[in-house]
Amino acid sequence: MKRVAVLGSTGSIGVQTLDVVTRSPGRFEVVGLAAGRNAARLAEQVRAFRPRVVSVRTPEAARELETLLGRSAPEILAGEEGAVAVATLAEADVVVAAISGGAGLRSTAAAVEAGKVVGLANKESLVLAGELVMASARRKGAHILPVDSEHSAIFQSLAGHNREEVRRLILTASGGPLRTLPPERLRAVTPAEALRHPNWSMGDKITIDSATLMNKGLEVIEARWLFDIEPERIDILVHPESIVHSMVEYVDGQVVAQLGVSDMRGPISYALAHPARLALDLAPLDLARVGRLSFEAPDPVRFPAYRLAYRALEMGGTAPAALSGADEAAVAAFLSGRCGFADISRLCSEVLEAHAPEPLRSVDQAIAASERGKAEVERHLG
Ligand SMILES: NC(=O)c1ccc[n+]([C@@H]2O[C@H](COP(=O)([O-])OP(=O)(O)OC[C@H]3O[C@@H](n4cnc5c(N)ncnc54)[C@H](OP(=O)(O)O)[C@@H]3O)[C@@H](O)[C@H]2O)c1
Repeated sequence: MKRVAVLGSTGSIGVQTLDVVTRSPGRFEVVGLAAGRNAARLAEQVRAFRPRVVSVRTPEAARELETLLGRSAPEILAGEEGAVAVATLAEADVVVAAISGGAGLRSTAAAVEAGKVVGLANKESLVLAGELVMASARRKGAHILPVDSEHSAIFQSLAGHNREEVRRLILTASGGPLRTLPPERLRAVTPAEALRHPNWSMGDKITIDSATLMNKGLEVIEARWLFDIEPERIDILVHPESIVHSMVEYVDGQVVAQLGVSDMRGPISYALAHPARLALDLAPLDLARVGRLSFEAPDPVRFPAYRLAYRALEMGGTAPAALSGADEAAVAAFLSGRCGFADISRLCSEVLEAHAPEPLRSVDQAIAASERGKAEVERHLG
């Protein structure tokens, strides 16, 4: 029986993590949950899983949760300290880090520093402070197991192989809902159109990032730190069917890939049960029905955002954190109608190029750089 804490339990990954737990009776016990503002959904989760400690983002949400649960309420914490407390619960064996955005960094870093096994969905933790988080993992003996499907695919394709013999990593990308749209139509894209992802059902931020291809850029940065590999050896390949989740090419030219249906419960279960596999009753991959797998190079003219990630890695230090913050603010501005779709990558590029990177020394500094990135976007938007 593994004891699990889920950070971001009310979100897309959090809910699917708890679904994997439900489908694996006797394998997992939920000891802690951390959420944002969705007290109603968290209350349902508390009734179903009976964790000892839960945390919400604000004191108001904590009061709402207390009212909803009455006498059956567990210990309720609030704020970032609350999420950190859940991330470091002494009784937790595995911590699934699935808060969205830079807000997930502190709790992820705390879980790593506590030497936990961390199922990492919150890619922003490695985008903002990958070097520090990985160094902390090495120091504390924490295992970071990827939940992002591409990184899980690479992790699985590396198993049993010699990492010294890797030539390059190939991250696949669905290309998002706007992949075939002509350049003149991209300007007028609405949030509703950009949120209509063809293969995956995910939170709003990552869905817009998939439409701009910024998500793939952030994944390049995540892979750079997670697998300790130079950015020049990480390639992006658009694969609209999202069946091949990523690949590893070895020095002899042989390529190992991982395939599966587009269901995040696959990578979630792999991280939760590692090194075992769970017998999950998910839809099987029927390649005869899929028929064709296609691939194409990403288009840097229509979707320039992914290239900013390589640029940020080249600039180094706090640059990826500034880019991540800029992207969060630009995506939020797009979703609320304050800027157009093409403005997301334009704003990110302007903020990144104006950023004077500093060598990264602390999580606080990474968060400050991300906040500066956000503020710069707000300044551009006026
Ligand atoms: N969804 C996917 O398929 C997918 C795939 C790969 C990687 N990821 C990564 O996984 C992470 C989560 O993505 P998602 O799609 O699950 O996002 P999501 O559906 O938007 O859920 C985000 C979760 O984080 C919580 N949250 C947000 N801000 C918080 C804060 N300041 N403090 C505490 N909790 C906070 C939300 O709480 P409330 O809802 O209660 O406010 C919610 O539980 C992201 O980093 C994303 O890039 C997701």
